[in-house]
Amino acid sequence: MKYFIQIFGCQMNKSDAERIASLLDSLGYNAVEQKEKADFIFIVSCSVRQSAENRVYGLMSQIKKLKAQSPKLKVVLTGCMAMRKEVVKNLKDVDVFLDIKDLKTLPKLLNTKSEQAEIETYFSIKPKYESGFTAYVPIMTGCNNFCTYCIVPYVRGREESRQPQEVLNEVQCLLDNGYKEIILLGQNVNSYSPKLRTQGSGFRAEIINDFPDLLEAVATLKGDYWLRFLTSHPKDFSDKLIKVIKNNKNITEYVHLPIQAGDDTILRKMNRKYTVKHFKTLVKKIRNAIPGVSISTDIIVGFPGETKKLFESSAKTFEEIGFDMAYLNKYSARKGTKSYDLKDEVSDMEKKRRELVLTKLLRKSGLDYNKQFKGQTLEVLVGKKGKDDMWFAKTRTYKVVKFKSKKSLLGQFVKIKITKAGSFGYDCELF
Ligand code: 5AD
Ligand code: SF4
Repeated sequence: MKYFIQIFGCQMNKSDAERIASLLDSLGYNAVEQKEKADFIFIVSCSVRQSAENRVYGLMSQIKKLKAQSPKLKVVLTGCMAMRKEVVKNLKDVDVFLDIKDLKTLPKLLNTKSEQAEIETYFSIKPKYESGFTAYVPIMTGCNNFCTYCIVPYVRGREESRQPQEVLNEVQCLLDNGYKEIILLGQNVNSYSPKLRTQGSGFRAEIINDFPDLLEAVATLKGDYWLRFLTSHPKDFSDKLIKVIKNNKNITEYVHLPIQAGDDTILRKMNRKYTVKHFKTLVKKIRNAIPGVSISTDIIVGFPGETKKLFESSAKTFEEIGFDMAYLNKYSARKGTKSYDLKDEVSDMEKKRRELVLTKLLRKSGLDYNKQFKGQTLEVLVGKKGKDDMWFAKTRTYKVVKFKSKKSLLGQFVKIKITKAGSFGYDCELF
């Protein structure tokens, strides 16, 4: 049997796909690179914005044709869309809708037996990591925050934290296998809270109660590696966490801190539970404590009730903070969320205009941040090869650098000298 996995959306979906792949391999299935050659197509879907769901609808029309040619083809849909009743009924060509938390039932659904040892939770399925040097390690799933625009709490359910020992074991195993970059994942890592508190028998004697404890325990595992984490909620980002980042050299100087809006009226309507003042103070604290830190954000434009004036206030905050990187999102009404009932009154054209305003500001703040590194020598992790001996790598601060080299450097830490700083990355040469 041959399978193909199509992934949409966030890193959590990528990580889920790695667990699906390992389970299928253990059932004796073989991965193929083209969906046309597959007996099973797995879709790991995203519902965060309508555009993400539309991509799945686009794929479904291709699948319809494939099914007409090969009637035995089976389609399994998991991820956010599989949890949405109103979506499920539109996807007639899907054979199985799978809640990712029920992944361990897949062998039964496919009428086969897994060679993996008895699976306790979906987290305990050993992933088939896509990369040989960067690994995503989920530490929790779900979200309890109910931001009014967001579908995640409805489709991913309540927060569930993974056992610390299991996280530590997975990371230790990765480090033993030479992995260089570990990215801890959760919708809101700051509310990590393991139910069963583990006495760290193998690794540390302390009890792991919260995210800073876990991060520190992971950061003190032996090895030459970088440790990152995604994503943080500004209301829960503690002084203890800042201290842990500051004191552990394996943790990179990079914080992704979604602001979502830069105006208190909109933040309140979004149920974000912090103010602009709180956010600014937090950014200042992080920047003061961690020299050279890069802070990136997510921000939504055109949320219901965001008048031109309120947007201007939001853009002013965005400019004042001067983010080093930002992911700009046009508001997309999601059925089932609280804000769906509010009138989506900002036109698409106006959302695009606002996005452009923020892009301009970002180009400037990104460049201002990046300029400080011009002429410096930095260590980077090489992640991808381009054309004509070009290599792409990431800095500790999650910036992209590119340089030329005839040597094969994939997955290695190398030293580079920055020759030119742009808004979103650097040109450099191998040192
Ligand atoms: N519309 C637009 N952007 C959204 N996001 C989440 N829900 C929506 C929505 N309904 C964005 C947020 C979040 C990121 C992952 O996606 O900015 O941080
Ligand atoms: Fe969605 Fe808010 Fe939870 Fe993030 S914190 S996943 S934006 S509800």
